[in-house]
Amino acid sequence: MSEITPEVLISEQKIQKKVADLAARISADYADCDDLLLVGILKGSFIFLSDLSRALTIPRSVDFMALSTYGESERTQTDGAVRMIMDLRRNITGKHVLVVEDIVDTGYTLSYLLRNLAARQPASLKTCVLVEKPERREVFTQIDYLGFSIPDVWVVGCGLDWAERFRTLPYIGVVHPEA
Ligand code: IMP
Ligand code: MG
Repeated sequence: MSEITPEVLISEQKIQKKVADLAARISADYADCDDLLLVGILKGSFIFLSDLSRALTIPRSVDFMALSTYGESERTQTDGAVRMIMDLRRNITGKHVLVVEDIVDTGYTLSYLLRNLAARQPASLKTCVLVEKPERREVFTQIDYLGFSIPDVWVVGCGLDWAERFRTLPYIGVVHPEA
């Protein structure tokens, strides 16, 4: 396979600045919280979560979930779109929870996740998303802290992949899958 270089959409420097800004806002908003639980959604959120969590100045802990999305053709029923592959280790009842996601595209994944987590009765439940594609949204989903809104293109880097490639690129780049 010949190597392609994704075209830069958001530079490493802009991402680092945004992560620092988000971490400062979250640290201020949760200043009175003695243990904020960051819930990372695997695999895509692992880079953003590690950068964000290290930039926070409040007490925090980390847990992970893994979800799998079915193909577009199976997305006719809202509830059938997403499946949980790995659950949290710990109970979140009464805890302050911040879900950390790499990307919101149609919104099915995050809306499924929020319904699932809300049923466990956390003390609070918010979301922090690195990038969203507003043009692609099919279902409403709550985004409390957002990095960037981008057009309808396939992006890689900062945890995002194209068939498992490019997750560890330090910038967000565009690939053209037809190329
Ligand atoms: P949803 O459509 O909002 O449910 O997002 C489903 C999943 O599609 C995301 O969690 C990502 O794993 C993946 N995804 C959507 N758009 C992109 C992209 O541009 N690059 C990489 N992954 C994407
Ligand atoms: Mg994802």
